Amino acid sequence: MDKILQQYEFSPYPNIPLESVTFDAGALFKYCAATPFYFQSQQVRTESLRILDVGCGTGYKTLLLAAANRGATVKGIDLSPKSISIARERAAHWGREDVTFERMDVNSLGGRDEKYDYINCQDILYLLPNPAEVLKILNSVLSDGGVIRFDVHAKHVRESMLRAQSVFRMLGQMEKNPEMAEVDFVRNFMDNLDDGVSLKKNCWSVRYSENDPGAVLMNHLLQSDSGWNISDVFKVLDESGLEFLQMVNWLGWNIQALFKNQQVPALVENVLAGLDDRQQLEFFELVQPWQRLHDIWCCKQGKIAWVPLDEWPDRTWEEASVHLHPALLEPKVIELLNASVSEHRSINFKTGHDYPLDYWIDPILAKMLLDLVEGPRRYRSYLEGDYADFIHFSAMAAGNRDEVEKWLRMILIRLSDPLYIFIVPGAAPVRSP
Ligand SMILES: C[S@@+](CC[C@H](N)C(=O)[O-])C[C@H]1O[C@@H](n2cnc3c(N)ncnc32)[C@H](O)[C@@H]1O
Repeated sequence: MDKILQQYEFSPYPNIPLESVTFDAGALFKYCAATPFYFQSQQVRTESLRILDVGCGTGYKTLLLAAANRGATVKGIDLSPKSISIARERAAHWGREDVTFERMDVNSLGGRDEKYDYINCQDILYLLPNPAEVLKILNSVLSDGGVIRFDVHAKHVRESMLRAQSVFRMLGQMEKNPEMAEVDFVRNFMDNLDDGVSLKKNCWSVRYSENDPGAVLMNHLLQSDSGWNISDVFKVLDESGLEFLQMVNWLGWNIQALFKNQQVPALVENVLAGLDDRQQLEFFELVQPWQRLHDIWCCKQGKIAWVPLDEWPDRTWEEASVHLHPALLEPKVIELLNASVSEHRSINFKTGHDYPLDYWIDPILAKMLLDLVEGPRRYRSYLEGDYADFIHFSAMAAGNRDEVEKWLRMILIRLSDPLYIFIVPGAAPVRSP
């Protein structure tokens, strides 16, 4: 614990200038709790949320959480006083005095009567000696129906960096808290390694030689780092009374996309179809270890089993409502959607983040999204009044209600795959058609 504290007192994380927070749709999408809540219950929650950012560091992500969840009360906690002080300055810079920060060890959260609806726990759990205990504590302050997001270093992807840490531990660079002298040692060592040597090829680049020493401190010299496989993730979930909900970058864990032309060979298709969520993720990480972090949403055990959209009976569709994802209310996104409709061209929300906003939207989809900006619609409203003409025309099946509905559902499901929209069964409060 002392080593972790010293590390972040010397090098608060992230080391990003106060004014450089990117509030674009891609970032907001990832931090918006509406996404995991929909995965949990197929519902859209509208009450003000209580959000906790555990190990908030210098408050960059805490501000994203506040921006992405309008009306929420957001609190960040961290062990490091220096990080907390920078986080407060960052919030003040952005005029977010409503976001509060407290210097606190996560282990002392237990036993408090406060409850949170959404707990964010990023880039910390893999540093701690007792991750299952910490998740148990977080579970104890999680409200019923609440969600926790946490991430851990993925063992296969982090493997060469973990090797580098072992090398520098062997060379005596991690006995006390690494500072500038140790960073210089690492730089000198790596610069002198032959370019063909595995350690250098796999975990060194010009960014470590020249830029912020924090990059070396947080990687090659990181104290208490650990690598996790999917099976380790599920083990701590079991131990802490939590249940897997979804990967944060869920569209990237698509097994079909591993194969040529997205065609899973017949020989393995049946076997793969018989695997549960956990086994499919394990399979995926063996075939394609792809991200530094396993980033997941989880909830209390006993999650609701809901029916996927493509299995809904007609009567469920009849009563359904369609809601825009709140992150798409961002002015730049609305501007793009308007441009798509007025200039009759397809657009792409690509933001540079690894979030699934990288989808092509044609003018018909753009209009359907824009029409949700004012508020949700009933599914039925697409087939009534003025909208009926638009839908019949777009489906190229005027007059044939079955064909039109088939097309409409296909389009809505397509928009719902990346969660640009939430399709909610039953009678949710919606604006009149
Ligand atoms: C890598 S930083 C992550 C910061 C932030 N969550 C982010 O992702 O940008 C890890 C943070 O966890 C904090 N931390 C480590 N152990 C902690 C503990 N026991 N209780 C609270 N915070 C802790 C550190 O002080 C540090 O600021």
